Parts: sequence; structure tokens; C-alpha cells
Amino acid sequence: MKKLKVGIIGLGSWGLSHLEAYGQLPFAEVAAVCDANPERLHIAREQYRVSNVYSDAEAMLAGEPDIELISVVTYERNHLQPTLLALRAGKHVIVEKPVTTVPEEAEQMLAASREYGRYVIPGHLLRFEPKYAEIKQIIADGRIGKPVSIYLKRSRENGLFATYRRTHTVYELMIHDLDQAIWYADSKVKKVYATGCSVTGEESPEVLWAQLQFENGTVAVLHSNWMTPDAAGIAINDCTEVIGETGIAHFDTSLAGVQSWTGAGRGTTDVSIHHRQRGRVIGCLADQLNYVGQCILYGRAPTAVSFEDALHGVEVADAIVRSSRQGKEIVL
Ligand SMILES: NC(=O)c1ccc[n+]([C@@H]2O[C@H](COP(=O)([O-])OP(=O)(O)OC[C@H]3O[C@@H](n4cnc5c(N)ncnc54)[C@H](O)[C@@H]3O)[C@@H](O)[C@H]2O)c1
Repeated sequence: MKKLKVGIIGLGSWGLSHLEAYGQLPFAEVAAVCDANPERLHIAREQYRVSNVYSDAEAMLAGEPDIELISVVTYERNHLQPTLLALRAGKHVIVEKPVTTVPEEAEQMLAASREYGRYVIPGHLLRFEPKYAEIKQIIADGRIGKPVSIYLKRSRENGLFATYRRTHTVYELMIHDLDQAIWYADSKVKKVYATGCSVTGEESPEVLWAQLQFENGTVAVLHSNWMTPDAAGIAINDCTEVIGETGIAHFDTSLAGVQSWTGAGRGTTDVSIHHRQRGRVIGCLADQLNYVGQCILYGRAPTAVSFEDALHGVEVADAIVRSSRQGKEIVL
């Protein structure tokens, strides 16, 4: 069987998750990885047996002509250069969320994808998460009528903020829900009003609320925060509710997941994103890479995700930052 050769640029914690998830796919082979930090390359070589490791993306792209798909998993603000280099080198690209934190950069990525005839695919993995995908299915089947109101909440443990305050909360957390809201509403956002609250005085707020109005009349409220106390032992506390003209689709993860109650306190195990069970990787990251990889291998367009929607999500995120800073509504 012909294998799809894959490369990964950025082998931090989530890049390693990509490496593990690709390792799960029988038709794919991670041919090379690249990270600017030699310690990460050491881990790739020693723990994951990847022999072709590079500290420079251009060198990897030049040295690996057989690679067809690149995962870009560098820092949030650092996706443009590796994405453009890979597209120019004739590779398809899956670029992690947020695809960028600058709308013009997303436009550059899309233009390069068209110029070089290669896909640029946003890493919006929640479209492959069964609960979120089921809500889309319920809407698409017409079971709740046209969505009139969308509520999406995302809460994470406070300790993570020490790392992820490096990027504004709208790009780190809420960008997932922006993609979901755009997907569910099936429309463009025309107005935004947002409020942020910084508990520690950081530039990025720990608590962010955004109210959106879509062109087709749907309204949405998105709420992201980093305020769950670590000691509570609740890693993920997310909620979705779509009110349609004739019904409601809803889920709440806060109390519905797997919990362990031990001498160390309560723990929650998220099995839906990226998790190892019985020696294999499960979750929607692997499902997403499986889908994207098969699209590339068999020459199918990856229509389950949309870079145009991701670009719009970044435009809306940019408006959310401006609205929360200026304290006024922004019209897109
Ligand atoms: N989809 C999800 O649910 C999800 C989850 C976690 C992280 N992410 C995203 O994945 C991306 C990476 O996050 P992370 O937590 O792994 O970050 P990280 O800080 O752990 O890793 C980033 C890595 O990129 C490397 N790097 C940066 N610039 C580079 C360059 N030009 N060339 C080569 N290597 C470079 C760094 O050395 C580092 O090892 C972010 O965009 C983040 O938002 C997505």
C-alpha cells in the first residue's frame, strides 16, 4: 500500500500529539519533523524513532521531496512563515488553530494555497468531535429548524493560563467556538460586542464574553475563561446550546465526562480530543488527521473543514479584541 508521507513543523506538546495521532494511521508515515529546539528533536528521535529531524523548516522541505502533507504546529503567532514555505514547496498543509492571529496573514495563506494549487486546511478539530458534529447533524437534518440562538462556553483550568496567556483568549480558546458558531449558523457575522475581564492584569483576559449577530439573523453568545481552579479537578467544562425555530440541541460536558476520585482528589479524563487507551490513540485529533490524510491520499477535497470559515473566524476574533478594548460594538 502506498503510504502518505507527512512532516510536522513545531514539535511542542501539541506537535507531539500530531506525531502520535499520525502514528495511529496505517496509511500514513511521519517522514520528518522540524523544531527550532534541539531538545524536542531529541525526543522525536529517541522516544518516537523519527530519524529525519530538522531544526529549520526550509531545510526539511528541501530535503524531503516525498512529503505530501505538513502539519504546522508552531506557536500561535508563528504559523504564517512555515505555512507559506510548505505551500510554495508543493505540500498540502494542515495549520493548527488559530490559523493566525492576524486576518491579513490568513488571506496570504489562502492566496498561496490558490497560487500553488495545494490545500491549506484549518486545524479546527471540533468539527470531528462527535458531540459537536452531532449538533451540526441535528441542524442539517432540520430537526430543530433554523438556528436562532447559539451559546458556546469553554472553560479551562487556571494553571494553564500561565502558558496560554501568551496569546489573547479569543485566539487560544474562543477561536474553537467561533468556528463552531459560523458552522452552525451557516452565515457571516455582521456585528460584534465583547467584554473581557483580566483578573491578574495580563493583556489577555482570563474571562471573555462575545455577542455576535449573523447576517441571517442568528445571534450567538460565546464565553471563554481560564478560571476553573486546578484543585477542582475539572479539566474541561464546556457547553453548547443551539436554539432553533422548532427545537433545541444541547450538551454540557462539565459533569458528563469520566471522573476518577482518588487520594489525590478528583480527576477528569478527556477521551474526546487526544487520549491513549489500550495502547492506541483515540479522539478527534486522530479522526481529523485520518480524514485529512485520506483526502490527500485519494485526491478528494477536504470539504468537512473550510479555510474561508477559519479566515472569517480570525476576522471576527480581531473585531472581538477591538470591541473589548474600545467598549463598543464593532460592525464588520
Ligand atoms: N486544536 C487543539 O485543540 C490544540 C490544542 C493545543 C494546542 N493547539 C495549537 O497548537 C499550536 C502549538 O501549541 P503547543 O501547545 O504545542 O505549543 P508549544 O509551545 O508546546 O510548542 C510550539 C513548538 O514550536 C516550535 N517552533 C516555534 N517556531 C518554530 C519554527 N519557526 N520552526 C520550527 N519550530 C518552531 C517551538 O520550539 C516549540 O517546540 C498552537 O497554535 C496551539 O494553539 C491546538
